[in-house]
Amino acid sequence: MPDKPAQLTHLPEWRVLAQLKEQLAGTPIRDLFRDDPQRAQRYLVSGAGLTLDFSRNRLTDATFDALMDLAQTCGLEAQRNALFDGGIVNRTENRPALHTALRQPLGQGVRVHGENIIPEVHATLDRMAELVSAITEGRHTGYTNKRFTDVVSIGIGGSFLGPKLVVEALRPFWHGQLQCHFVANIDGTDIAETLRSLNPETTLFLVQSKSFRTQETLDNSLLARQWFLDKSGSEPAVARHFLAVTANVDEAIRFGIDRNNVFPMWDWVGGRYSLWSAIGLPIALTIGMEHFRALLEGAHAMDCHFREQPAASNLPVIMAMLSVWYNNFWDAQSHAVLPYDEYLKHLPEHLQQLDMESNGKRVTQNGNAVDYQTGPILWGGVGANGQHAYHQLIHQGTRLIPADFIIPLQSHNPVEHHHATLFANCLSQASAMMAGKTQAEAEQELLQAGMDQDTAQALAPHKEIPGNKPSNILVMDKITPTTLGALIALYEHRTFVQSVIWDIDCFDQWGVELGKQIGNQILPRLLGNETEGTAGDSATDQMIQLFRSANRP
Ligand code: F6P
Repeated sequence: MPDKPAQLTHLPEWRVLAQLKEQLAGTPIRDLFRDDPQRAQRYLVSGAGLTLDFSRNRLTDATFDALMDLAQTCGLEAQRNALFDGGIVNRTENRPALHTALRQPLGQGVRVHGENIIPEVHATLDRMAELVSAITEGRHTGYTNKRFTDVVSIGIGGSFLGPKLVVEALRPFWHGQLQCHFVANIDGTDIAETLRSLNPETTLFLVQSKSFRTQETLDNSLLARQWFLDKSGSEPAVARHFLAVTANVDEAIRFGIDRNNVFPMWDWVGGRYSLWSAIGLPIALTIGMEHFRALLEGAHAMDCHFREQPAASNLPVIMAMLSVWYNNFWDAQSHAVLPYDEYLKHLPEHLQQLDMESNGKRVTQNGNAVDYQTGPILWGGVGANGQHAYHQLIHQGTRLIPADFIIPLQSHNPVEHHHATLFANCLSQASAMMAGKTQAEAEQELLQAGMDQDTAQALAPHKEIPGNKPSNILVMDKITPTTLGALIALYEHRTFVQSVIWDIDCFDQWGVELGKQIGNQILPRLLGNETEGTAGDSATDQMIQLFRSANRP
């Protein structure tokens, strides 16, 4: 494992940034606008169909340069090249992380263990295309020769969130022949409610699991299989109705999936980066392969932008370094993602896994505990709804919450003046967060409205909005497969850049494993198969007893 030149917080660039923070602390963003008429134009960058306005940040040119210097000193360029070239960037699992190869055109090679993987990626895309056309053209039908009408995708985590986000976001591109449903949770309600309205004759099941060892997915798939067998009464029909996507082909076959129905994944694709692989089949089946390929093209365009643009005009680098700036120098504990587009309503959930599973780490690549904060809590929701809920805390709460507003310039549903109103809401929120309202302004407003001096004075502190809350605005012409692909890839690279600065492995997730291990010890006790000793602690034992008394056979 390569040595860092020095511990992060001892780097000269880190100290410069700490000083710049002190200098900027008394200067509100609105003063930066007042002093620089060109600010909005200068802090606007575009790439791969996306435009980022990052002018509403606690940022001066000196800070921006210092952030870019820090990125350079942390070896971003070399690590970025290693990411694209198949270097072992996931060091704890001794693997590359080549989601970028999944969207690379034929002709450019990427080698893993000496073998060019791009032809295999494209062979799998061609198999996906063949399946999609066989199903939509009615060549691959259900066991009673009826055409498929529904697809149930069974998977969790990265085998669920990315496909769900994209299927919903690209609703205007649905061809309408197939309705996609997602089952993720082990909570029986998820699958029971999904199966309730489905016809087994016309339902296709996709078992989506990189490892083919995930309990939620396997249990739900077994249940779906049993439901299908009960209704169809035909074991051979399973082969027509059940497909799998996995890197563990043998296990899928052992489970009962026909070998010809297993689509490959590879250990060099992380679960949370897998929507670009055959895990994207729910997407391809819903919008067609042409649009799925356009999604890949959009992501590839962002890959090229990330790889080729200098740091100072590089969207993922700028967004990542701003996040480092607030996280490590301004003590921001969370980051809000606020899509102003109904179609993007699942974006925060997908980015939560992407960012928090990736950068929720506490030791450096060399295994030393960090002495700085790593990944912040990522959260958010669709605008304008959030304005009537949690925006209040952003405006007047005690915490600093940097936000990304994401909004298309054009709507797929241009009804009346709705899109202009939505856009106005988005701009007004960014503006209110930045400008705020002073106590004097609040008091003046109240006096002008006819309030007496004493009451106005008493009320004004409650109406003061401190402002100086940073935000980015990210726009694209419209939500299309290409712009959506670029948007998701942008956040993937933003996550990666942060991990480079924090010197952590953003491609493993060991913390998730502990819960799984303990769960395996508890389950036999809940089922009454194991009664001796303790499950680990008396509080857990007590709850096990409560559960057992409520669920006696
Ligand atoms: O929850 C942890 C995790 O390992 C994720 O990283 C992954 O996306 C998810 O489980 C599902 O894993 P699999 O695709 O192997 O079933």
